[in-house]
Amino acid sequence: MEGEKAIGITTLISFLILIFAYLNSNSNFNAENDLQKRLSQILDAMLEIENDHTVGKVRIAVGYGACNDLFVKASELLENESPPSATKHYGHIQTMEQLKEMYALFFSSGSAAERFVSNETLFMELVKRAESLPSGRYVLGGNAPVMAKRFAMEGGSVMLGAKRNDYLLKNLLPNMADMAFEIVVSYLNMAK
Ligand SMILES: *[C@@H]1O[C@H](CO)[C@@H](O)[C@H](O)[C@H]1NC(C)=O
Repeated sequence: MEGEKAIGITTLISFLILIFAYLNSNSNFNAENDLQKRLSQILDAMLEIENDHTVGKVRIAVGYGACNDLFVKASELLENESPPSATKHYGHIQTMEQLKEMYALFFSSGSAAERFVSNETLFMELVKRAESLPSGRYVLGGNAPVMAKRFAMEGGSVMLGAKRNDYLLKNLLPNMADMAFEIVVSYLNMAK
């Protein structure tokens, strides 16, 4: 009798746990659904406001940081390198060994890192190697040009303040190109 009762209670508890788990998984699913629904409502409302208040041609000025970003697959860049003996953190990179140690550290935790390379020889070697690899590609970088490009794609008339160079001018959209000029220099001159 005692045994039967004990089994009865265990079964009941298991059953309750199953129901709880089911309800819980269902409520997670509902929460996700709700979130998606609310997000699309917010986006629809924003588009509605935009359509109700057309401002005509939009002019936007963006500055100042601009650079060329060189992207490369690490597996290609480090293909012929021996693995580092340790993972380590550095404030700036001076040698290839330090680069590998820090890359291993950040790669193993799945996070991004950005460090200054204080050794010019190493830096130029890395750039040369990256440029020659199949995955090596240059992309217009820096926050200002990226934002300027997005605004221009949305139809805005954009003035980009950045240090002028051939690469930058080649990669600007038509509604930006003739407006790029060295606003930084003018600004510094004004401040004098
Ligand atoms: C700088 O990098 C070069 C090339 O990797 C290396 O031969 C040299 O030892 C490095 N210099 C210093 C001070 O670490």
